[in-house]
Amino acid sequence: MKSIVMNLKLLGLGALVLLAGCEPPPNDTVQHGYRGTGMVQVYNPSTVEKNADLHAAPVALPAPAPDGTRADKVYKNVKVLGNLSVGEFTRLMVSMSSWVAPNEGCTYCHNPANFAEDSKYTKVVARRMIEMTQHINADWQPHVAQTGVTCYTCHRGQPVPAQVWFKEPAQNTGADFIGDAAGQNKAAASVNLSSLPSDPFTPFLLESKDIRVNGPKALPTDNRHSIKQAEWTYGLMTHMSTALGVNCTYCHNTQSFSNWNGNPPQRAKAWHGIRMARDLNLDYMEPLQSTFPPNRLGPLGDTAKVNCATCHQGAYKPLNGAQMAKDFPELLRPAERTVASK
Ligand code: HEC
Ligand code: HEC
Ligand code: HEC
Ligand code: HEC
Repeated sequence: MKSIVMNLKLLGLGALVLLAGCEPPPNDTVQHGYRGTGMVQVYNPSTVEKNADLHAAPVALPAPAPDGTRADKVYKNVKVLGNLSVGEFTRLMVSMSSWVAPNEGCTYCHNPANFAEDSKYTKVVARRMIEMTQHINADWQPHVAQTGVTCYTCHRGQPVPAQVWFKEPAQNTGADFIGDAAGQNKAAASVNLSSLPSDPFTPFLLESKDIRVNGPKALPTDNRHSIKQAEWTYGLMTHMSTALGVNCTYCHNTQSFSNWNGNPPQRAKAWHGIRMARDLNLDYMEPLQSTFPPNRLGPLGDTAKVNCATCHQGAYKPLNGAQMAKDFPELLRPAERTVASK
């Protein structure tokens, strides 16, 4: 008798261990389109709670006086931040240290014996990153709006952002029967462990291939889109969904993926996001290739590049929409476009 009770207890314990691997109900659902269209987002409260720290924005240092001597009158080698007051300049340096290299501090970018010299590649990269941040906030308003971005949006206290991508070497180009597998069947994290092509970024976030599935007509004159292109398209869409922590109906009416009618405004935002990521990769990341040391480059020698996850990291608005950038007016636009008559 005693052993039966023991066995039952063990069974109960076993069931508990097994069930611990399941997601506990209830999940939250939020209706996102017309009733009956199935446009609903599903959230697991425990995942939301677990990621709360990741999506929390750090508190900004108090704003210093905007008057006083300009930085370019005091320092020797300032090319982009010269119009700031010395107080504003120092506050940005301290903030950049905490956003990008909190453990190393100033010396991550500077030779402490001479702050003016550009001997560390990190300083040269950082200067271009300041310009990139200003460009995002000023020229990509249709995407980033008033939320904007700071270094922290991508870096989150790390020199190399957690979510970046590199080009992948071609597979199976030898004389076998498989041909080019186009990165498929690798269960890659970039496409949420699906069998889709693992690099949908080179065609769309670097090159500007058409983001289309093969059309409804049979003849090549009506249907210029290959199955391979459709697979890349689904790969990118899977990345976009995972990067934002949403499902397809956050942007699409599933009645028709290609039709824009009845789609939420988020789809237009995403359209700009794709063009923005491409612009950042082409104009800022790729040209830095010769500045980065070899250990920072990918298997094909390219720089780390930006995709949706670099900023979003699983939230539909990075940092849950915290408006960090407004506390750093110097990051909102390039200096020569500042309206103030300093
Ligand atoms: C992530 C890289 C980075 C970090 C970390 C950083 N800086 Fe800088 N610093 C720069 C860049 C880039 C410039 C040049 C800005 C320009 O060209 O307008 C600069 C310029 C300076 C200058 C001007 C030097 C001169 O004479 O030209 C001083 C002073 C300075 N930083 C101080 C600091 C201090 C103090 C810290 C730590 C609290 C710090 N920096 C942390 C990137 C960094
Ligand atoms: C849109 C995303 C994004 C923003 C915004 C951004 N960065 Fe970066 N940053 C990157 C990526 C991607 C890399 C390449 C990672 C690598 O170093 O291989 C990078 C690299 C760097 C590096 C080189 C680190 C290393 O160890 O190789 C520094 C320094 C840096 N960024 C500073 C900054 C500063 C300062 C700002 C804000 C003024 C900033 N970044 C804003 C995406 C961003
Ligand atoms: C964050 C918004 C967003 C999410 C989430 C999203 N899409 Fe898209 N989708 C778009 C945008 C924007 C386009 C058009 C891209 C372009 O033309 O540059 C598009 C295009 C497509 C196309 C091509 C349609 C055509 O004209 O041939 C398909 C198919 C598609 N999406 C399927 C999906 C699937 C499946 C999912 C879920 C795994 C998904 N999308 C998730 C925004 C989104
Ligand atoms: C440089 C950082 C950055 C990158 C890269 C980025 N986004 Fe965003 N995204 C933002 C910011 C900031 C917002 C918040 C804008 C706002 O408050 O309206 C946003 C908002 C959005 C929204 C609107 C969310 C909502 O519910 O209002 C969508 C959709 C979106 N992004 C999709 C994408 C897609 C898809 C990609 C990749 C192709 C992408 N983003 C890449 C910074 C970025």
